[in-house]
Amino acid sequence: MTRPALQVIRDEHSAVSAVLRSMLQMLDRGPDEEQERFFDVLRAMLFYIDEFPERRHHPKESDLLFPKIARMAPHLMPVIRKLEDDHMSGERRVRELQHLLLAWELLGDSRRPAFEQAAREYVQFYFNHMRTEETELLPVAQKMLGEDDWAQLNAAFQANADPLVGGDRDPTYDRLFTRIVMRAPAPIGVGPE
Ligand SMILES: [Fe+2]
Ligand SMILES: [Fe+2]
Repeated sequence: MTRPALQVIRDEHSAVSAVLRSMLQMLDRGPDEEQERFFDVLRAMLFYIDEFPERRHHPKESDLLFPKIARMAPHLMPVIRKLEDDHMSGERRVRELQHLLLAWELLGDSRRPAFEQAAREYVQFYFNHMRTEETELLPVAQKMLGEDDWAQLNAAFQANADPLVGGDRDPTYDRLFTRIVMRAPAPIGVGPE
């Protein structure tokens, strides 16, 4: 099944939003008696964000989509520059979170507030980023880009599908998928209430 690039972008945003919302729910509830599972799931979520949104989704936007939009709509340059800065700092931010989570897990509760605060800030940062793309860039792209642009974007965005978006999934990601979807709470998962 082929899905146009815009749909892929929106679907990938929905998948990462669902992960981030589930992460907030887990933070609100805190670890229960099954501490190990709690940390396993959070670790899998952060790994997923690093592996997919950071390494596949963002580079396609930065390398292909943003330059095309900048060419057609130069007045959007300030917005694009801000989103570019977000992409540049995203990988560092998620790595930092992975470290803060390990610190909480291995060094104990004195390190919990630091992770919680950084995680909540990160979620906000990410939501704002996606909202800006969806409200300020995608509608312009839809209106202004031509057939050739779309052919190129569609091909790029259909490659390396995000395992948390429906459709065909590379079996390599089965374990990651299972850990997140079977164990995390809604909206991404079907784990315990
Ligand atoms: Fe982005
Ligand atoms: Fe995006």
